[in-house]
Amino acid sequence: MKILVSDSLSQEGLAILKESGFDVIVDTGLSEDQLVEKIKGIDALVIRSGTQVTASVIEAADRLKIIGRAGVGVDNVDTEAATKKGIIVSNTPDGNTLSAAEHTCAMMMAMARNIPQACASLRSDKWERNKFMGVELSGKVLGVVGLGRIGAEVAKRAQAFNMTILGYDPFVSEERAKSMGITLTTVEDICRKADFITVHTPLTKETKHIINADMFSVMKPTARIINCARGGIIHEGDLFEAVNSGKIAGAAIDVFVEEPPTGSDLLKSDKIIVTPHLGASTVEAQVNVAIDIAYEVIRVLNGEGAKSAVNIPAVRPELMEIISPYVKLAEVSGKIAATLIGTSYDKIEQAYYGEIAGKDVRTVTLAAIKGALQVAVGPGVNYVNAPGLAKSRGVEVSEKKSDTSDEYASVLTVTVSGGGKSVSVMGTAVGNDIKIIQIDKSRVDVYPSAHMIFADHINKPNVIGPCCQILGENNINISGMQVGYVKIGDPTIMVISVDSDVPEAVLKRLTTVDGVLSAKIVAI
Ligand code: NAD
Ligand code: MLT
Repeated sequence: MKILVSDSLSQEGLAILKESGFDVIVDTGLSEDQLVEKIKGIDALVIRSGTQVTASVIEAADRLKIIGRAGVGVDNVDTEAATKKGIIVSNTPDGNTLSAAEHTCAMMMAMARNIPQACASLRSDKWERNKFMGVELSGKVLGVVGLGRIGAEVAKRAQAFNMTILGYDPFVSEERAKSMGITLTTVEDICRKADFITVHTPLTKETKHIINADMFSVMKPTARIINCARGGIIHEGDLFEAVNSGKIAGAAIDVFVEEPPTGSDLLKSDKIIVTPHLGASTVEAQVNVAIDIAYEVIRVLNGEGAKSAVNIPAVRPELMEIISPYVKLAEVSGKIAATLIGTSYDKIEQAYYGEIAGKDVRTVTLAAIKGALQVAVGPGVNYVNAPGLAKSRGVEVSEKKSDTSDEYASVLTVTVSGGGKSVSVMGTAVGNDIKIIQIDKSRVDVYPSAHMIFADHINKPNVIGPCCQILGENNINISGMQVGYVKIGDPTIMVISVDSDVPEAVLKRLTTVDGVLSAKIVAI
């Protein structure tokens, strides 16, 4: 089997890979087109942050089993495309935590005491003791956005400097925050009260520009902000404006939207100190992450489970091949069921029938939870945080298995219940495609599409026509339609696949059609 290492990796990691007996190819600095070519025939790809593993690279991969990221952030990997193709994406979550936390503290202190500016001044033969008056950390408030590994370590170190810590992290309980000596609050409250603010979240749709002009407008003029996480969490233009106009006192930035940030305004202000993405650049961290990822890749290629996959629990590649359509089916079914129930729910039940019941389906169950919770919590739910989120929201998750299945080799049902109501979505896999075959009592035959309207209605004449007319009038193209097979006069479901999102007002109009009881959109 072949391992391609496409970013520089410390010798300690390379040596482990080579000693494992696999064919190790080191080829760094590849363009996307070159990687698309090189990836063919490769079983494992080892990267740091330089390689962009795009959907095209994943599409071109014909043997790839694992993408191993020596480091934390996997924002340079199209994880969704990899998951769809059954490729494990693993990172090394712990190897560089301390280095990144220490770098954050170094940036905070360097900024508080103007160390880079003073150093440059003295080197140019100046002796400007008054110009570089600093501030103490002691007695100040540090706001930490993102209380994961690095955020928690930064908070711990800041407490040793006698700082008070405010924190924001929607996935951390009051209890856990309290045990770390952190008071939980909102991002806005942090911005109002903190003397120093540091961000330690991944870059996601939710965290992109979480610190923007609105947040800078409520900060103290003495506030100072640090980003050693990912470029784009702080809006770079708004940051420059805030520092330049004196809205805040300074910034310390290690990571940028474009790296290197050639020509960026952030390099032009002497109140902004910068480093070239050095958070993890210590001898110790680079050895740690290289060793960790080398062992992870070897484990997966040897058919053992992955230990630090970010897209799935430990799953062997052969099993992944079998279960991957059911993973997709479970997520889609969870989304549909949670949308159709239309109320808060406290139970997700996953039932497996036939061959699939004999497999390790933990990832499939996770996918159902992820899909269902995304409806309520948003796209931030992933395989890693889904079970914890379900628990913290009081949602009970259960699994049922039976070796027998009547019509298909394997069938799964996701049932979401709460408030005296429940919705069941049953489906199966046809090769790599997935098909919904029943929603509650209504039999259907739906290959899920990106946008689907689910309309409960009474099975009677002149319901479908007016619904289609409303969509047509609103320039919404219908690409497919299914109606649940029931007796005339009975309630059933209509599933309309459309090519674009459907505005709320149009959904509302559908419910004015005589016989339509409700209309909801599910986007997958
Ligand atoms: P982590 O997964 O342990 O912690 C991230 C935390 O962010 C989690 O607690 C999560 O709940 C929280 N979070 C997620 N969405 C949030 C939101 N919308 N608002 C607030 N909090 C949210 O990750 P980590 O190891 O602590 O890494 C943190 C960041 O640092 C990542 O972006 C990582 O890529 C980056 N990093 C940078 C360097 C560097 O060289 N500068 C080195 C290591 C890590
Ligand atoms: C990480 O996410 O691990 C850091 O940004 C360090 C790196 O990219 O090497």
